[in-house]
Amino acid sequence: MISCLRACSGSPADALAAWLAADPAAGNRLVDFLPRGELRWFASGRMALFQGLAAQGIGAGDDVLVPPYVAAGVVDPIRALGARARFVASGPGLVADVAALNAACGSRTRAVVVVHHLGQAQPVEELARWCRARGVMLIEDCAQALFSRHPDGTPYGSHGHMALFSLTKQLPVTDGAVLVARESIPPAPAEGVSSTAAEAARLMGVHLAAVDAACREQTGGEDAWRAVASTYRRAYDVLSRDFAASLPTAATADVIARLDASAFADRRRSVVRRVAAGIVNPALSAFGDWQLPLSVPMALGALVPAGKRSDWVARAERAGVQLSTLVDLWDYTEGVDCPNDIDHRDRHVLIPVGENLDGADIDLLVRTINRL
Ligand SMILES: Cc1ncc(COP(=O)(O)O)c(C=O)c1O
Repeated sequence: MISCLRACSGSPADALAAWLAADPAAGNRLVDFLPRGELRWFASGRMALFQGLAAQGIGAGDDVLVPPYVAAGVVDPIRALGARARFVASGPGLVADVAALNAACGSRTRAVVVVHHLGQAQPVEELARWCRARGVMLIEDCAQALFSRHPDGTPYGSHGHMALFSLTKQLPVTDGAVLVARESIPPAPAEGVSSTAAEAARLMGVHLAAVDAACREQTGGEDAWRAVASTYRRAYDVLSRDFAASLPTAATADVIARLDASAFADRRRSVVRRVAAGIVNPALSAFGDWQLPLSVPMALGALVPAGKRSDWVARAERAGVQLSTLVDLWDYTEGVDCPNDIDHRDRHVLIPVGENLDGADIDLLVRTINRL
């Protein structure tokens, strides 16, 4: 099965072997793809967000504006601080809507989290200007945007007061995130790897093994995919139990140190290009900015005709392509009067573009999508 969830037989380092160099040349290291600022490494993106907001003194009585189509990893840390996650509708293609932010911004508003969904650029210069004028912080959530740069070469995350990146979205690692801060910098975690973070990483390893097993079943395998979902929830339940600062595990630190990030990013970009160029199904519209020269999408986001999503997902799955799994969890609009421009739950699919896809995978993927 071809899936956005990556199979990861053996250790993450084995899965990354082709992109690991003992000592990548300057310019090719993972840190060379991060924006300027103080780096703080954490076990997860949610922990990085919690720690970054805490360092800014955000807590009870404060509002943080967030988009509604977003993962628990954004909402949970805000709520854990006692602050309110206030949902603000996004415009077409999940692009932040400054007019909607303006309407939602009040005396309690301390920060805006702008999410670079799937690695898609947001109008960060305009948002940064708006935030400065309103005296609120801009937090660039680049959890899904590791390696992406604007056309002028500036890494995503360069315009906010802080930016966070989650490693598990792009790399086959069991944990790891980085916060890049420019003021009110949180202290580095001194205690090494916390027991919560170690347990979550272990459970994430179990999850990756479940993905591996499910992907090996060409089609069907409902039980195997149920195990994927339950192992994912178990890992994140532990991780969201507390957000006390922890470093990533040694295995992840090793990958960070040895990754030839340029080769890895180039490979993902070339897969995206080949997949996108092959898709000619007129009923499907890809969104995002995968066509920008330096963008490295986590997946290719696409909209299918309204009401067709379940049918398309089921048909693709029968052909060995998974267009959507955990994306179903990314919606906090239940009971919140805050529609996006469209109902993404009803129309949104994720097309895999992992660096691990070979020519035969890409052919199968493209053929399957074009037949839907
Ligand atoms: C947009 C976004 N921000 C933050 C996070 C949290 O990252 P992590 O899973 O590393 O805690 C996620 C995770 O899904 C995410 O999608």
